[in-house]
Amino acid sequence: MSVRVADLMRGRLQNNAVKFMPGTRDGLMVNGGGFQGKTETACDAAASFEDLWRDVHRQLLPGQTPGTRDLFVPVAYCRLPVRAAPKALCKTILDVYGDPHPNTLDDLIRAVRDAIRDHNTTALLIDDVTRLRLHREDDQDTLDLIRELMDLNVTLVLIGVDIPRSGLLRSAYVDPRTKQWVFPEVKQGRSHNDAASTQTERRFDLVDLDPFDYSTPAGITAFLDHLAGIEDQLRLFRSFEGMLTTGAMPEYLFRRTRGIVGLLRRLIEDGCTEAITNGEEQLTPELLARTSIHLGDLADLDPDAGEIPEIPQNVRPPQEKKTSRKKPRNTVFDDHGERPAADG
Ligand SMILES: Nc1ncnc2c1ncn2[C@@H]1O[C@H](COP(=O)(O)OP(=O)(O)O)[C@@H](O)[C@H]1O
Ligand SMILES: [Mg+2]
Repeated sequence: MSVRVADLMRGRLQNNAVKFMPGTRDGLMVNGGGFQGKTETACDAAASFEDLWRDVHRQLLPGQTPGTRDLFVPVAYCRLPVRAAPKALCKTILDVYGDPHPNTLDDLIRAVRDAIRDHNTTALLIDDVTRLRLHREDDQDTLDLIRELMDLNVTLVLIGVDIPRSGLLRSAYVDPRTKQWVFPEVKQGRSHNDAASTQTERRFDLVDLDPFDYSTPAGITAFLDHLAGIEDQLRLFRSFEGMLTTGAMPEYLFRRTRGIVGLLRRLIEDGCTEAITNGEEQLTPELLARTSIHLGDLADLDPDAGEIPEIPQNVRPPQEKKTSRKKPRNTVFDDHGERPAADG
């Protein structure tokens, strides 16, 4: 899942970056539940785009000057503050560049536009965008502002939990031909950007980052691959090959975490701490059954926006070796011997 999202995002950033015509760039929205790795996946894709883009520009860029700020900022990432208002969003974006905050909203917006242009930003990532409570007047203004940011020749990537039900897509419709979400132009008068009224509509792709799926062979393979990757990185003295990927372990891990990558990570980390402390030095379903999942510091998450996933409770560990889930051997081609020669 995350590979698909990352590939799509990298492709979109690269394609848009080499468009030099004026006009809006198709944006991207990454949708998924809390702790499913949205931030990590998007930042990873953005970072690899930034590497590539800096490489392309190496000959043109001024060298680094200690004590000064970066002039060239191809990728800007920011998180929407809880209870975001347009001013707060502008300030968060300006903080990426370390620019000062003007006082009035109009000046802030102008400063954001100038900063994005002057720093040659081609990708603007706004994380946790579903923190907007769209019934408030401020939020509607923020939303209009976000849409207008698309007119700045920047690829806008919006990341959030349950975007379709957040009100963010209000007034947008799906183009049946391209399956993209289309925002009609902002009504004149409300717009912060005079040019916006002459722009055509803004288009977004909405991609879902789902948890692992344990109901299809492809889903199980992906989950097992992920577990194998984790197992490779664990350094427990008594770990063994297939510690996480064989027997009842994969299914148990799936039931404990519902396939949510962040919960799985916490469970394994806490399990390892326990295994090291008590000297067992390996992960077993029994040990994990004693480990509860702690999400750690939640201060920077917004439960109201669904950023904290529900953790499955009271998941029974698999029964001891009672059920061998091995498939019986296929006996169709067995030679049972001593068959009479063909009749007649
Ligand atoms: N592909 C991955 N492999 C391993 N761990 C991951 C992966 N993606 C995310 N994580 C971990 O999952 C946790 C939650 O990820 P995060 O990106 O913050 O989720 P979200 O933004 O969807 O709430 C983090 O601890 C992160 O390191
Ligand atoms: Mg996040």
